[in-house]
Amino acid sequence: MKISVIGTGYVGLVSGVGLAHHGHKVICVDIDEEKVNKINDSEPPIYEEGLEEMLEEVVSDGKLSATTDTLQSILDSEVTFICVGTPSKRDGSVDTSAVENAAKDISQALKEKDDYHVVCVKSTVTPGTTEGKVLPILEKSGKRVGDDFGLGMNPEFLREGVALNDFLDPDRIVIGGWDEKSRNKLEKIHEDFGAPKIMTDLRTAEMIKYASNALLATKISYANEISKICEKKGIDVYEVMDGVGLDHRINRDFLNAGCGFGGSCFPKDVKALRALAKEVGVTTRILDAVLSVNDEQPLHTIELLKEELGELKGKKIAVLGLTFKGGTDDVRETRALPMIEKLLKEGAEVVGYDPKGMENFSELIDEVEFDKGIKDALDSAEACIIQNDWSEFRSLESEDFDGMKNKVVVDARRILDPKDLSEEITYIGIGKGPVD
Ligand code: UGA
Repeated sequence: MKISVIGTGYVGLVSGVGLAHHGHKVICVDIDEEKVNKINDSEPPIYEEGLEEMLEEVVSDGKLSATTDTLQSILDSEVTFICVGTPSKRDGSVDTSAVENAAKDISQALKEKDDYHVVCVKSTVTPGTTEGKVLPILEKSGKRVGDDFGLGMNPEFLREGVALNDFLDPDRIVIGGWDEKSRNKLEKIHEDFGAPKIMTDLRTAEMIKYASNALLATKISYANEISKICEKKGIDVYEVMDGVGLDHRINRDFLNAGCGFGGSCFPKDVKALRALAKEVGVTTRILDAVLSVNDEQPLHTIELLKEELGELKGKKIAVLGLTFKGGTDDVRETRALPMIEKLLKEGAEVVGYDPKGMENFSELIDEVEFDKGIKDALDSAEACIIQNDWSEFRSLESEDFDGMKNKVVVDARRILDPKDLSEEITYIGIGKGPVD
């Protein structure tokens, strides 16, 4: 099938490449000419595991190309996926202006198109948006939904870093449609995927995405709350969750205690769901708690540090990991920011290190020094906090901490095993009672 994809962020590009790999002819559209040129040169503008190789494969097979010409891409395709960003507004609700702009462009193209065309929203939008905001814009073309064009909503469940794998091997595919005809077209696109397909209406599809992300965020905050009780009682929360997670009704994923969830999705989506609830007069005790536990968690790591070091004034503290998780340069909603702000407030001298995130992080805050390597960052530090789970941090060994003045290690992602570390190191693992 001929498909156009508007927006070449990690969702749009990964979906485009994945669909092209499945044999479709894909045109990726972006306003950024530099990105478009890179894609046509088989150079992904973002890093995702396996993306470069697969992009090269689909570009050289003539299955994928990129353009800045939205109009032509729609005239040349049968289905258009909208994959643009939907950031948070100040009140937590979703800014859908990029989705609406994409719909306006599509509407212009529909005016000139005689063939039936399906428009499908992949961007995360709150229930009612596709029908309430996208549809009226498309109908301004003078064309009618159902007769002249179809409308769908197909949420993505892609984790940054492993997005291509998540796209090619999904747990389920959710296809919301205005009518049977729209759904059938979208189902056909996915016919080679083995995953179960949920065929539903537009607003249910939109809600499935929010309810999924909010539940995953709830699991994390739940694990973080249990971890605090475990710390007080000398119990290891990771062992507890291993036991809990074996129950197939619960499952072990996303029960890792740490310094909270960040990224471009969970914080934004939970806030958006809460804003939507408020709009419709529903109280959200669970969602409120999920967010407040998450706000406290990075500060809790500093409390743990202070229990060991006392006052932090004038002390050099190294923060290892500045991005919201390992494997990405993305610093959106990273827990490193509230953590470092608190350290600075306490008068500490903060040195940060991240394999890929230092440039982006330096735009968020001024008072942090950055070091080129772990060794420099740790040199003469009184303590370090491991904030994210880069593989480089997972392989840290006792000798790596040799240059520290005081060998206090707060493992806020539980990626080191204290049994492998020398006795000289004071290891404080989040959600773990004192080491015996
Ligand atoms: C998340 C979801 O996992 C995807 O399914 C979804 O499609 C995506 O949001 C989205 O809405 O677009 P992502 O934000 O890339 O993906 O990152 P995750 O791997 O889910 O991690 C989110 C945050 O939770 C990270 O800060 C991570 O460190 C934290 N986390 C995750 C924990 O603290 N504990 C866990 O057990 C798991």
